[in-house]
Amino acid sequence: MGRCPACDAWGTLVEEVASARVELAPTLALGSAPVPIAEVGVDAAERRSTGVEELDRVLGGGLVPGSVTLLAGEPGMGKSTLLLQSLGAMAAAGLRCLLVTAEESPAQVRMRAERVGALADNLLVAGATDLNHVIAHAEAVAPDVLAIDSIQTVVDPDRPGAPGSVTQVRDCAYRLVQLAKERGLATLLVGHVTKEGTVAGPRVLEHIVDTVLSFDGDRGHSLRLLRALKHRFGSTQELGLFDMTSEGLECVPDASARFLVDRRPGVAGSAVAAVLEGARPVMVEVQALVVPSNAPAPRRSGSGIDAQRLSMLLAVLAQRAEVNMMQHDVYGSIAGGLRVTEPGLDLALALAAAGARTGRAAPERQVVVGELGLGGEVRSVPQLERRLAEAARLGFETALVPPGTPDQPGIQVLPVGDLREAVALGLIRADPGFAAVS
Ligand code: TYD
Ligand code: MG
Repeated sequence: MGRCPACDAWGTLVEEVASARVELAPTLALGSAPVPIAEVGVDAAERRSTGVEELDRVLGGGLVPGSVTLLAGEPGMGKSTLLLQSLGAMAAAGLRCLLVTAEESPAQVRMRAERVGALADNLLVAGATDLNHVIAHAEAVAPDVLAIDSIQTVVDPDRPGAPGSVTQVRDCAYRLVQLAKERGLATLLVGHVTKEGTVAGPRVLEHIVDTVLSFDGDRGHSLRLLRALKHRFGSTQELGLFDMTSEGLECVPDASARFLVDRRPGVAGSAVAAVLEGARPVMVEVQALVVPSNAPAPRRSGSGIDAQRLSMLLAVLAQRAEVNMMQHDVYGSIAGGLRVTEPGLDLALALAAAGARTGRAAPERQVVVGELGLGGEVRSVPQLERRLAEAARLGFETALVPPGTPDQPGIQVLPVGDLREAVALGLIRADPGFAAVS
C-alpha cells in the first residue's frame, strides 16, 4: 500500500517479515525466579568515566558496564568525533576499547584520532559492516567498552531488509544489547537522525537501549548540546555543552561565561536572562531590534527563541505597558547559538523589546527572570534560587524577579508584580548610541 489507511500519509509503510523468534527484553531473557523486592540484589552499578567531562555530566558520572547507550544526532553534528575522543580517553585510562567502524575506513578514523588526540594503545579499531563479524571481533578482543559507528550501517545477513531499514536496525541493535548484557560490555551505538523525522533511527531503538543521548546544535555555530532523552541509570535533566574546534570537541564547563562573552552592556534592546537548560542554570543575553514597518502584518522573527511567543509578548507590552510595536518589525535573538524555550525567558525578552523600542538600556549588572501572563503579571518559575546563585557567581548585582521571591545571598532581588513595573524599574538608562528611525 502506498498510503497508510490510518493516518493517510503516503510512503510511510515499512515492510516487516514475521519472525518465529520470541523476543523478550534481553535482561529478562536470562530468566530469574520471583523473590521479595527487598531481597533483589543490587550490583551497585560502578560507572566508568568516559574521560569527557560534559559526557560524564549527562550520563550521571559515566558508563555502566553492560549498558547500551545510543548517541543520536543529525549527520555532521560530531557524533563520531565525540565517540572517538571519549574512547581515546577511556583507553588512555586503561580500559580496553574496541571501535567498530562501519561507515568510515579505519585509516580515516586514525587520521581523525591524530587530530583530536585519541591515539591510545588500548583503543582497537576494526572495520566491519556484517553484524556477525562485529560480534566475532567483540568476542575475540573482549573489550570493556564496545562502540559501533553507526548502527544504521551494520547488517545481519541472516535477516531480511536493506542496511538502515527498520527491521535491520532493530534486529542488529537487539543482538548487540544481548551481547552487552551477557558480557557486561559497556556499549555505545551511533545513530543518525534525519530532519524529516526518523525513518529507521533512534525512535525504533528507544525502547531497546538503556540510554538515548541526543547531540545537536546549529550548523552555523560551533556550539553543540548533549542531552539524555532516556536514561535508565540516572537523570535526564543534565545538559552537556561543547564547542566544535579544529582539534575536536571542547567541553564548555562555564556555560554562562560562554554566552555572555560578546556582550556590549549599555546598548538598548538587550537583557540578560537567567534560564534553565535542563538542570543547569545559564545566563544568556537576549537581544531585540525594533524598526518601523509599512507591511500590513509586521514581521516577528526569532533566532533561538519562539517567534510565536515573541508575538504574544509584544501584544502584552502594547496592552499592559503601553509600549506599542504594532507598526514595527521586531527581531528577537539569543546570542551564542542556544535555543531557549522555557517561559523564564519571557520577562527578559519583553524588556529587550521594550528597550529596543524606547532606546533605553538595562543596567549592566542586572539579570532578569520570570514568566509573563496575558494580564501583564510576572509569574514565578522553577529553581529561582539556583538561577540567582549562578547570576551572583558571575557578578550580577541586581535581579528583576517575580513577586514573593525571597532575598538571595550575593545579589539584590527586585520583585516586580507586572510588566509595567518591570519596564520602569529595569530600563533606567538612555542609550546614547540609539537613533530612533521613523
Ligand atoms: P563528525 O564527528 O564526523 O560528525 P557525525 O559523526 O555526527 O556525522 O564531525 C562532523 C563535523 O565536525 C565535520 O564536518 C568536521 C567537523 N570537525 C571539526 O570541526 N573539527 C574536528 O576536529 C573534527 C574531527 C571534525
Ligand atoms: Mg560519523
